[in-house]
This record gives sequence, C-alpha cells and structure tokens, in this order.
Amino acid sequence: MKVLVLNGPNLGRLGRRQPEIYGTTTHAELVERCVAWGAERGMQVEVRQTNHEGVLVDWLNAAADDETPVVLNAAAWTHYSYAVHDACAQLVAPLVEVHLSDPRTRPEEFRHHSVVTAHAVEVVAGHGVEGYRMALDVLATRAAT
Ligand code: DQA
Repeated sequence: MKVLVLNGPNLGRLGRRQPEIYGTTTHAELVERCVAWGAERGMQVEVRQTNHEGVLVDWLNAAADDETPVVLNAAAWTHYSYAVHDACAQLVAPLVEVHLSDPRTRPEEFRHHSVVTAHAVEVVAGHGVEGYRMALDVLATRAAT
C-alpha cells in the first residue's frame, strides 16, 4: 500500500525550529523513520514537505484522484486554510491528522481549532515524531480490517 506523509509550513526546519516544542529530530530524520516504519508495515511511504499552500492542495488533489491514504501535518494551515479543508474533503482513502505538539492544549487560542479534523479518521497529537508511527499504525490497522 502506498501512503503519503505530507508536512506543511515550517516543518522543513524541524530540529532547529523551537526544539523545546517540536523536538530535536530533523525533517530528514523524520523522513527516514517514516519510510522505515512504513516498510515494517508493508507500506511504501513517501514523505513531502512544503511551505507553499497551493503545492499542498495539488498533492491532496492527486491523492484524491489516486485514492492514496494520507498522513497530514498541515502545521499552521491546520488552523485557518479552507483550501486545505476543501482538499481534505475530497479524499477517498483514509486521512490521519498528525501534530508533533498538541495544539489543543497550547496557549494560543488560534491553535485550538482544526479545519482538517472533520475529514480525518483519527487525530494523533502531542507524541512528537512517534505520532507519525502511530498514524501509520492507524492506516495499517484499517487496511487489514
Ligand atoms: C503543528 C502545530 C501547529 O499549531 C503549528 O502551527 C505547527 C506544527 C505540530 O506539529 O505540532 O507548525 O502542526
């Protein structure tokens, strides 16, 4: 099974970006781990990151056409992008929303709402990079049942 792991803005700086919140694992290391976790579960995982909203919408539209399951960390777009909301609404295969931190418990009010959640089969938040493994597990379990 092919799985897309899509990461939104500022996640390319993982490891250097506010490590006290997002941890010290770099995006390159996250890619390696997701690919390895996927292989253990019989999945071909492709990880992508973009700082450009339209690029993410294009990737989601292609995932809708190809019926590819998606693990999505839309980062800040999670909280306000109706373009991402509408793109998620079109997905056919399961979508798992993931966040390194738990935005719902962070002090900034704007992080408490997600436009992605309505379209996700599950939200994994607050588990750091391990959350991506948990999200892949959700997809593996659903594929097996
Ligand atoms: C994030 C949480 C968002 O609120 C934030 O804008 C991010 C990262 C997370 O993974 O914890 O960029 O999605």
